[in-house]
Amino acid sequence: MVDETRVHSARRYNYWLGGKDNFAVDRESGDQIAAVFPTIRVTARENRGFLRRAVTHLTAEAGIRQFLDIGTGLPTADNTHEVAQRLAGEARVVYVDNDPMVLAHARALLTSTPEGRTAYLEADLREPEKILADPAVRDVLDFDRPIALMLIAVLHFIDDTDEARRIVRTLLDALPAGSYLVLSHGTSDYADAETHARFAAMATRGAIDAWPRTRDEVRSLVDGLDLLEPGIAPVNEWRAEGEAGPRPTAAEVAVYGLVARKP
Ligand SMILES: C[S@@+](CC[C@H](N)C(=O)[O-])C[C@H]1O[C@@H](n2cnc3c(N)ncnc32)[C@H](O)[C@@H]1O
Repeated sequence: MVDETRVHSARRYNYWLGGKDNFAVDRESGDQIAAVFPTIRVTARENRGFLRRAVTHLTAEAGIRQFLDIGTGLPTADNTHEVAQRLAGEARVVYVDNDPMVLAHARALLTSTPEGRTAYLEADLREPEKILADPAVRDVLDFDRPIALMLIAVLHFIDDTDEARRIVRTLLDALPAGSYLVLSHGTSDYADAETHARFAAMATRGAIDAWPRTRDEVRSLVDGLDLLEPGIAPVNEWRAEGEAGPRPTAAEVAVYGLVARKP
């Protein structure tokens, strides 16, 4: 059930992206975070740009035709299947999110090309085994062929790093060699002392639901995988040479991105 009284990260992110699918409680939380980190809307846009470039690369250059996108978010411009199917109509995408509001809007994620397929599953990233075993996932994705696992701005909602590592490992273990992981993850590596202190104060009041990680912690999540160039980079810098206009700094964005291949 959609709960209008509790903050949901999907709706708050939709608010930062300029969408209309959010409630007062989400906007309030979004404004509180923006008071501490004023460039959060730039962060959200840059994160979407990273998603678009990573999916474009995997579809156009790496021949990937299957995507498992966990922590999908509310539909917006350039959803994963739209980016992939623009380049390869036969691409298949399974979307997974645990927010009932995303389920309510899932029709916009199911606009597949006739030759491709999309599906939506309401499930929790904390239960990767359930996701992998779900008939909808098995029906759409062929686990004998490479799959790109997308964990875009979702893993930082798992506070325990060992648990985050277990989740990534469980999901990747089920995928064949030649599969990929696309990951973006919030970081406080670029924050100044004042921002650190403000976030710590918010965490103490219980006003934080996302847990930034350092570059080394992010690296530990992808142990054993081959990182594509340029490795772990701020999302605004990841293969962004073609992006127009003045570019934000890593400190303004504060999200790492990477694409890695399972050997
Ligand atoms: C910041 S949004 C990112 C959306 C999209 N991946 C993007 O990067 O544009 C995070 C999404 O992850 C979802 N999410 C958070 N925790 C989750 C969990 N434990 N299981 C599944 N989805 C989760 C939220 O509902 C939200 O839609």
